[in-house]
Amino acid sequence: MKRRKFLKNSSTLTAGLISAPMLATCNENNTKTNGPDEISTGIKPIAICTWNFHNATAKAWEVLDQGGSSLDAVEQGVMIEEADVNNQTVGKGGRPDRNGDVTLDACIMDKDGNCGAVLCLQNIAHPISVARKVMEDTPHVMLAGKGAEQFAYEKGFEKEDLLTKKSMQEWTEWKKTSQYKPIINIENHDTIGMLAIDKNGDISGACTTSGMAYKYAGRVGDSPIIGAGLFVDNEIGGATATGVGEEVVRTVGSFLIVELMRQGKSPQEACEEGVKRIIAKNKDNTDFQIGFIAMNKKGETGSYCIQPGFTFRKYSEAGHVNNPSDSFIKT
Ligand code: GLY
Repeated sequence: MKRRKFLKNSSTLTAGLISAPMLATCNENNTKTNGPDEISTGIKPIAICTWNFHNATAKAWEVLDQGGSSLDAVEQGVMIEEADVNNQTVGKGGRPDRNGDVTLDACIMDKDGNCGAVLCLQNIAHPISVARKVMEDTPHVMLAGKGAEQFAYEKGFEKEDLLTKKSMQEWTEWKKTSQYKPIINIENHDTIGMLAIDKNGDISGACTTSGMAYKYAGRVGDSPIIGAGLFVDNEIGGATATGVGEEVVRTVGSFLIVELMRQGKSPQEACEEGVKRIIAKNKDNTDFQIGFIAMNKKGETGSYCIQPGFTFRKYSEAGHVNNPSDSFIKT
């Protein structure tokens, strides 16, 4: 009886956020009808991310499946890509700025609206973990540049050379013909943004990138900007972005998508509207890529991408997102 009362109260408190069927995890006799993780919320844990970073969602799923929090899941998930030197758009091995320095941006946001970010961080392989430390161990939200690096050392992170031989050789080639212009194309924008919902129904998100290849020194995109590259409101859902950060910042893209979900749009509808807002600001420019993924409190997901020439696609149709709905939803 106590449990039934709790569920009823939960339903009242979260009316419109958790649907009745999702609470129907206890029958009249109060026996479980789903797995033990789902008894109190009816939520099926899930992790999604931008692009085809299957190893990252697999890691996040491992955390969720063991009962871990969505915050741990998204951190550990994106760390897989930060550590992968073959991924030249995130973490160690990322392409450098035009001066040859690898600078990393990341942010993280938890179920309580706490957030942390690092901007233009050098010599540290896991900016997402430094961002989490900013969130948990300081009164601040963002640390940038040398201050962020100093903070990381104080927290025990080790100094590492992030510029791999491959990235250095490509940069050297680029310099010969580039006239020092940054490159904007679809091949070098593979930011990983990840959203997860855990067995308690709590949503967290993380976003990490080495940013635009050969960018101006000091350039920061959307990825470490709360509201642009990532936003989570645990009452509604979360969204995160990939692509040309300047465009995402101009529309505060991830915040917009969460607000659209608050107004009743599905994650898919919200992602599509977010992309349309950016298109509306770019009537004469079709030469960029933007993608969003989103998740709501029911664990429903959406994704939408625009590519140069303004071709549209759902990521899952394009194979550009690891939509884990088949392999990583807990059943
Ligand atoms: N979306 C990553 C960046 O623009 O830096």
